[in-house]
Amino acid sequence: MPETAREELERWDREHVWHAFTQMAEYEPLVIERGDGCKLYDLDGREYLDGVSSLWCNLHGHRHPRIDAAIRAQLDRVAHTTSLGASNSTTIKLARRLVELAPPGLNRVFFSDDGATAVEVALKMAFQHWRQKPDPQPEKTTYLALGDAYHGDTLGSVSVGGVERFHAMFSPLLFAVERLPAPQTYRLPPGIDVAGALPHYLGQLEQVLAERHERIAAMIVEPLVQAAAGMLAHPAGYLRGVRELTRRYGVLLIADEVAVGFGRTGRMFACEHEDVAPDFLCLAKGLTGGYLPLAATLTTTEVWNAFLGRYAESKQFYHGHTYGGNPLGAAAALASLEVFDEERVFDHLPAKIERLGEHLKRISQHPHVGDVRQRGLIAGIELVQDRATQAPFPWAERRGQQVCDAARRLGVLLRPLGNVIVVMPPLAATIEEIDRIALAVEQGIVEATKM
Ligand SMILES: Cc1ncc(COP(=O)(O)O)c(C=O)c1O
Repeated sequence: MPETAREELERWDREHVWHAFTQMAEYEPLVIERGDGCKLYDLDGREYLDGVSSLWCNLHGHRHPRIDAAIRAQLDRVAHTTSLGASNSTTIKLARRLVELAPPGLNRVFFSDDGATAVEVALKMAFQHWRQKPDPQPEKTTYLALGDAYHGDTLGSVSVGGVERFHAMFSPLLFAVERLPAPQTYRLPPGIDVAGALPHYLGQLEQVLAERHERIAAMIVEPLVQAAAGMLAHPAGYLRGVRELTRRYGVLLIADEVAVGFGRTGRMFACEHEDVAPDFLCLAKGLTGGYLPLAATLTTTEVWNAFLGRYAESKQFYHGHTYGGNPLGAAAALASLEVFDEERVFDHLPAKIERLGEHLKRISQHPHVGDVRQRGLIAGIELVQDRATQAPFPWAERRGQQVCDAARRLGVLLRPLGNVIVVMPPLAATIEEIDRIALAVEQGIVEATKM
């Protein structure tokens, strides 16, 4: 591309485009022009491996022929029709396919367009359900959420979120929720060891539920891994325990699989690892293979039934988004789900997961790596100033970003979460690509932690 054209685009990018979660005073443009498989190319044709799946959403690579063709075919029929009181054949087929794949009992699908909206839908549906079910419990007006949770950036999702740095500013605008500490195994409370973590966290949960279940409409969790918290891994068995306790105390369970769904953990849905069927399943990001904004909130017939009645009873769900269930997105999603079968994605994943694990094992030996956490093709590498005390690097030093800057110079695109380096390659990444990503991370850590 001619130098002037590039400079002009970069200037317009700096002057007009307000980038998400980005300090615009310091923003340095990185303009991606095209993609192919797990690679992205900037305006100068420089190649980068997409080490974070374009923010945790790409599954089968960029410009996948199957998904590209499905979108083109849908374009030849219709790009969009409303879901308010009407339907279209592609979106119906996607709903059917999601019901087939989801944990049992989740046979009603409400479409929206992003992870945050999938969560808003679940929160509002849970609330309205308690008011309208045959024996109403209108006192159920609050939610139970976990510390450091992240469920998106709309105000309802932020209310159940708990990432201090992102959310504290907005606290005057938020509704109050019941909060429990994030269950994890790295920074454990005093007196609790790894073996005692599960009973400790479930014990806390049972206490809150026993005392306040009558007021709690739903508990919301990110199953297995709290992604934006720094890929915090829950102790094994936590999700199953949550399901048992929420059921026992009559609290609905919302599983937010926006980040962990669609194969990332090695199974289609993270809930499958612990045989859990939640009352709501929130899906987005990988739903379309990372192509288009589309989200879905799946729920049960029991919840659905609470919304049925004659028109004049006004029990319908007064909620919708113009592009919810968008047919182009639905076509991409159906094609993406077909790719899972056609390319036997789940047969190939174990070797890739193992290879990533081998790299992480080596990286964990570095004197400034405090913890490595892996579930499937999701990994978080936490940098610390001091391994013995677990003292973090001061946040403002941006050590995680420094690692990613070094990796970028080596041709690998990553985005950190504070001091945690996130590695989340597309499921389609080859072993060789996983090697290149891991070696760039390792080199980045060496460079960024030179004291
Ligand atoms: C668990 C979880 N829920 C919800 C969201 C919000 O999704 P979106 O950015 O599509 O609104 C995210 C985004 O990272 C997420 O990780």
